[in-house]
Amino acid sequence: MHDTVVNAIEIKELEFSYAKSGRPKVLQVDTWKVAKGQSVFLSGPSGTGKSTLLNLIGGTLPIHSPNRGEIRLLEQPFSSLSPSKRDKFRAKHIGMVFQQFNLIPYLSVEKNIEAAAYFGKTLSPDTKTIAKEYLQRMDLADTILSQRSDTLSVGQQQRVAVARALINKPEILIVDEPTSALDESAKMGFMNLLMQCVKELNVSLVFVSHDSRLASHFEYSLQLGQLNRAETSEL
Ligand SMILES: Nc1ncnc2c1ncn2[C@@H]1O[C@H](COP(=O)(O)OP(=O)(O)OP(=O)(O)O)[C@@H](O)[C@H]1O
Ligand SMILES: [Mg+2]
Repeated sequence: MHDTVVNAIEIKELEFSYAKSGRPKVLQVDTWKVAKGQSVFLSGPSGTGKSTLLNLIGGTLPIHSPNRGEIRLLEQPFSSLSPSKRDKFRAKHIGMVFQQFNLIPYLSVEKNIEAAAYFGKTLSPDTKTIAKEYLQRMDLADTILSQRSDTLSVGQQQRVAVARALINKPEILIVDEPTSALDESAKMGFMNLLMQCVKELNVSLVFVSHDSRLASHFEYSLQLGQLNRAETSEL
């Protein structure tokens, strides 16, 4: 599937509301495409639907699906898949870093990363070595592997979440406000690793942040309001 795919994400006529009544509409996106290997910086005021959009793309709103329209990923229908097929597709092809509650709290860092590799079917004796390399590149010592996730600082959790999201070499990487708790040095390591992966793995990256200084790392940047016609959106 990998070599011939041109579009990583395609959204058509999408409408979404959290309420059964269909109102208030959080998202109304006529059309949006992200090409394979493209990196996008997405910003916009708080509460306008950025995380909602990312969760719809990742299929991580299990009790909610689009009210209308379609999301295709890697040129496959995605939003219409059954929940179990969607989970399998996500484990194999998508890396996700959420805004909060990223890691399984009672597991060590190593087990968190191994679990992702297991579900993505890439678990091997090399998994730990690759994880160590990613963590080192983001200024984290190897000793963190044995630490329980619920004992990490928020900035450490964010970087571990990125290492975990990359472990299956996903085609699509979705990250939501990941640098809020990082100091300048960790932020630089984090951005360099992300951008190198975009290049090396030809990953399509959608990166949401309020930190507009990071936009220069990306091929293009846009405000959610440029896409979203729902009444909650602001330009
Ligand atoms: N689980 C939910 N149930 C009902 N409404 C929700 C839910 N999650 C978010 N919303 C509402 O949907 C709207 C969009 O929220 P969302 O989290 O997508 O915003 P955001 O752009 O990511 O904001 P921020 O920049 O603060 O992270 C908000 O009005 C929010 O109150
Ligand atoms: Mg958000």
